[in-house]
This record gives sequence, C-alpha cells and structure tokens, in this order.
Amino acid sequence: MHQAFVCDTGYCKCLLHLREPQAVPFFTSLMSQKKAASDRMEKIVSLCKRRGFVFQSSEIYGGLNGCWDYGPLGVELRRNLKEFWWRRMVRERDDIVGLDGSILMNRQVWVASGHETTFSDPMVDCRNCKSRLRADQLPEKNGQKQCPVCGSFDLTEPRAFNLMFKTFVGATEDDSAVTYLRPETAQSIFVQFRNVLEVSRKKLPFGIAQIGKAFRNEINPRNFIFRSREFEQMELEYFCFPNQGPELLEYWLKERLRFYADIGLSKDKLHVHEIPPEERSHYSKGTYDIEFEFPFGVQELEGVAYRTDYDLTQHQKTSGKPLEYFDEETKTHFIPHVVEPSAGVDRTLLALLCAAYDEETVTDEKGKSETRTVLRLHPRMAPIKCGVFPLLKNNEQLVRKAKEIVEMLRGDMSVFYDETGAIGRRYRRQDEAGTPFGITVDFDTIGENGPANRDTVTVRYRDSMEQKRLAIAEIPAFLREQIT
Ligand code: GAP
Repeated sequence: MHQAFVCDTGYCKCLLHLREPQAVPFFTSLMSQKKAASDRMEKIVSLCKRRGFVFQSSEIYGGLNGCWDYGPLGVELRRNLKEFWWRRMVRERDDIVGLDGSILMNRQVWVASGHETTFSDPMVDCRNCKSRLRADQLPEKNGQKQCPVCGSFDLTEPRAFNLMFKTFVGATEDDSAVTYLRPETAQSIFVQFRNVLEVSRKKLPFGIAQIGKAFRNEINPRNFIFRSREFEQMELEYFCFPNQGPELLEYWLKERLRFYADIGLSKDKLHVHEIPPEERSHYSKGTYDIEFEFPFGVQELEGVAYRTDYDLTQHQKTSGKPLEYFDEETKTHFIPHVVEPSAGVDRTLLALLCAAYDEETVTDEKGKSETRTVLRLHPRMAPIKCGVFPLLKNNEQLVRKAKEIVEMLRGDMSVFYDETGAIGRRYRRQDEAGTPFGITVDFDTIGENGPANRDTVTVRYRDSMEQKRLAIAEIPAFLREQIT
C-alpha cells in the first residue's frame, strides 16, 4: 500500500504534498505474503462486483460454477482489450486476415484434431467427501495425495475426464447427433484454411486470426475468471514454410510481449517459460508460456507454440480434402507449418485488473485520512476514458457546459457525466472505475472570475491526482493522444 498525502479536489486551499513512503510502515509487512495476496484478490473480486466489472453468472439462482457475466464496466474493458488485439494483429498488418467461425462444428473436426480421444485431464474422486478433483493438482502429505477439501487420503485411481461439453444437433439425441462446444477457436481456422487462402490470395507466410468463445468442462474452475468453463480466446494461426517455423516462434514471442507492454502490463510481472521437450505436445517443436504474477501465483496468460504441420495434416487425412499450399517459385505442393500465439481474454482482463489495483492513503487539509482505491489501468484499456463534472449541479450554466463537453466527446470515446455529490467523491468513484481523466467545469469556465480562463476546464489525472487547465477546444486532441 502506498502512502500519498494529498488533497486532490483542487477546490480547497490545502497544499499538495507527498510524504516519503518509507516513513510509514508497510501494512503488508505485518502479514504473511500469502495472506496479503489472498486479501488483495478478495478486494479485487469485491471491487469487480461493486463497480460492475464481473458478476457471478445466474447469481439469483445461486450461480453456475465456472461461468461469469461481465457488467457495464467489464464489457467496455473487454471490448477495449479485444479491439486492441485485433488492431495489432490484423488491421495494422498486411499478412493477417480474420475469421469468425461457428461454435458448433462437425464432430469429425474433433476426431481429426485428437480432442475427442485425448483432450482430458486426470480426475480422482474423494471417497470421503465425494469431491471431484484434478489428480495433477492435489496436495501431498508424506508422499501421499490428499483431498484438499476434507483432508482424506481415500482417493480413487486417476481416470481421464474429457473436457469437451457434449451436445446434440437436431431432434434426436443419439450418437449420430453428437457434437461438442468448441474447446478452442483454432480448429475452425485450420478447417477453413483453404477457403481463406483462396479468397484472400495471401502468400506464405500469412496468418488467420480469430476472437471467440471456447468451452471446457474444467474439473476445478478456480481463481475467479482465471479458469472458467466458458471463456474467450484470441488466437492467431500463422502459416509458414517449414524452415521458417523456429524463427517465427521467436518473432511471435517478442510481438506478444510487446502487446502486453502496450496494454500496461509491466515487464517485471511477466515471465516467459520455455516448455521442455518432454512436457510439450507431441506435435510441437517449441512452446513458450507467457506467464503473469497473479496474487495467487505465477500462471499462464498465453501459449506461443510451433505446431508444425500437425493440424492441417490431420484434417487433410480425415476429410480427404487437400489442404496443401502450392508454391509457385518451386512448383511444389506441401502442407504449411504453423506458429500459434493463443491468448485468453478473461485471463488478460484479470491480469489487467490485478496489475491496476492500488490503494493509497490520502489526507485532507484537516489531517483526515482515507483510503483511496484506484485502478491504474492504461488509458487505452480504461472502460471510461473521461469523467465530466459540473462543479455544482444546481447551476444551469455549469451543467449546460458540462453536457456540451460530453456531447463533443461521445462520438469518439466512452465518457461519463456525473453531477451528484461533492467533487472529491465524484473523483473517487471514477478512480475505482479506472477512469484516467476527469474534467471539471467550474466558475472560471463560464467566465465568472474574469475572461482569462473562460472556456477552459480543469483536467485531473487519476494517477497523480494533479490538475491542469485546458481549453475546451483542446480536450478531444489531448484525450485522443492518450487513449489510442
Ligand atoms: N489453441 C491452443 C489452446 O487452446 P491452451 O493453452 O489450451 O491452448 C490458450 O489455451 C489460452 O486460452 C490459455 O493461455 C488461456 O489464456 C486461455 N484458457 C485456456 N483454458 C482456459 C480456461 N479454462 N479459462 C480461461 N481461460 C482459458
């Protein structure tokens, strides 16, 4: 917890001053690190509900384990994240095009990809409390696996549990009607490879990108939205000549790290874990996990994998349809290799929230202290870019000016108008929502204190709480520069 002693309304007479943070003992030093981490996670979950980022799915019926709904702020944050991914991966490049595949696909897709037979986790049952548990995530005591729920050692032998959600297409519920909710978006890219190649007329190397829902019947969904049963992926399949695979794996790792830096995840919270050959999928010639330091531990955010020609080969074999590429230079047909950066929307969103969450003590001019909760989201990601406040709600001129500013900005970005409560309270509400800028229309704006500051406003920075005056006409350019 940082200590900042400031009054940030700008509308009282106290001095702005910062006290040395080391002069105040850190609260966290009093607790074990684990306790502090779980408290921090609890506070983040509570803020997510309180401010409308994330709600439990079907909450009024007791919820549904592993499923979440995104509220008004959450949905904006998600859109900003997905749109920035799309911009970086597709719009800013000539070599990548998009796809939006269906969630339900022909069952043969999952036969060919191997998911029907091998997409499983090892599961055990606790004979004592009947919990279903992932065998590879059990705690051990004296070399014996233990049930984390009741502490019993009486567990069944591990057996494979397929993670795909099974469903039926059409009116009959027999084996011929079986299919699955897709457990990854990648397979529709592979099975549409031929069509996309033909219509886009791309030459190797080129990529197909997709953002969409995926479903896995996880044995133990946990850590809030980190591991859920319904989630969203942002995947790229980048097709190339076989000899380009190793180099492109390194290239995409770097590109993806650049992406995370550009959405505000600092380098020191990110780790790259190279998966050793014996732990990689049999078809992979190299895999990196990009990991993030969540409060509950260092965990995978994204996988970057060199999948060779495995997927296209499998689909060519199973469908009997050619999925080869014709290289005009060498006049040869071959199956392209592929490098796949595969990220999770929900996990990245959780990483953004965890990295952004901060608390600091602020003290006003009367010496009264309070905790300021602030989400230091990158302005690019922030759900609301700017709060607009008339200093008083019962002054028609102030209100009119503030509403004019809202109208001026609305077409370009998400803005929020708030006239209720003291100005300091309004700032605090936006701090918790992660809104990077606040614009206050005051008596200077309407010329009551002379012509010098007419048609200027106060711009308040969320992170430093500093304020400056800016002409209304300059606001759109000022904000655009920060948020794009
Ligand atoms: N096509 C490759 C693939 O799906 P994966 O490592 O199984 O690879 C890719 O998944 C990413 O999808 C993960 O890094 C993670 O961000 C996200 N993801 C996977 N399972 C998830 C789950 N149960 N809940 C939330 N996100 C998940």
